[in-house]
Amino acid sequence: MTKPLLRVLEGSVLERPPIWIMRQAGRYLPEYRELRARAKSFLDFCYAPALATEAVMQPLRRFPLDAAILFSDILVVPDALGRTVSFVEGEGPKLDPLMHEETWRYGDIEKGIQRLAPVYETVERIKGQLPADVALIGFAGAPWTVATYMLQGEGGEKDRARRVAYQRPADVDALLEVLVEATARHLAEQVKAGAECVQIFESWAEGLSPALFERLVLAPTEALITRLRALGVTVPVIAFPRGCGGYLQAYAHRIPAAGLGIDTGTDPVFAAAAARPGQALQGNLDPQLLVAGGDALRAGAEAVIEGFKGRPHIFNLGHGITPEAKPEHLAALVQTVKGG
Ligand code: CP3
Repeated sequence: MTKPLLRVLEGSVLERPPIWIMRQAGRYLPEYRELRARAKSFLDFCYAPALATEAVMQPLRRFPLDAAILFSDILVVPDALGRTVSFVEGEGPKLDPLMHEETWRYGDIEKGIQRLAPVYETVERIKGQLPADVALIGFAGAPWTVATYMLQGEGGEKDRARRVAYQRPADVDALLEVLVEATARHLAEQVKAGAECVQIFESWAEGLSPALFERLVLAPTEALITRLRALGVTVPVIAFPRGCGGYLQAYAHRIPAAGLGIDTGTDPVFAAAAARPGQALQGNLDPQLLVAGGDALRAGAEAVIEGFKGRPHIFNLGHGITPEAKPEHLAALVQTVKGG
């Protein structure tokens, strides 16, 4: 029998939505923090198949979730392309910013994909341990989101990345082209290793003019999925354009994704009107409710279920779970969603 999450991505409306949580393996779990302390750096952790597989399994042992997501990061792609990537405790990712460099050069894509072999080994290992009804999600960052980190060297205000997109258009377009190809190859390898669907995180879809939204988000994401299909990948795609606001309809109609991720700031009624008919919607509980808990959490969860009623719906947060979230609140949420 098809796993519930995959049935929803085929357009089925289930009585209770399947649930998984963005960043479900993470620092809000004490066993994750213990495991994380065993690796020298966050990237070493991502490239250690035994540790990464254990991180994936940890939330599944606690909560009856409907999906597992590969433990890795969107920034392994720039790492594979030879850019310097590190994660500074309490500060987030740090890269050598392209915007300060005269000539932009990247390593060979095929060699980069070979460097990511431990990630694909992790997918294989997870696949061997997964409960029968739990779906395995692979993922990557969308080209523009990954490019913002490469351009600026860090997250934070995206004004700098946008400015470079105007100042050095040919260089930025060439960067996005490299990322389209590298990301398509990276996702194809995850699927070959056993991923049953893939999510594309466009975490920085916000704040773009119509012209830039077309050039930096729509065109490269469409090219990415077209390339993925040309590589023979047939699994469903969930595309998550966080913060895209009024562009949601344009995005839903242009990007050939079975599932559309909805952020917390988007009304389910607006999302349903923007989506293609029958398109699955995923979201969109406020992550802060997993810190707050209690009646607010239950009411919030019920409002999300009600908001997406009658549509193919995958229950999730509107963004990743935060380190301050309480595991017992997630347990209560899963129970509410499953009808407990
Ligand atoms: O459980 C899962 O969801 C799978 C693993 C996963 C991670 N990162 C692990 C991680 C996934 C899907 C991501 C995606 C990711 N990474 C995104 C897109 C989703 C989003 O949140 O918008 C982005 C923008 C990144 C880049 C990134 N990686 C940032 C900004 C940070 C720092 C965040 C912070 O709060 O410090 C990371 C580090 C990171 N990636 C951690 C984890 C569990 C925390 C670092 C650690 O545990 O030491």
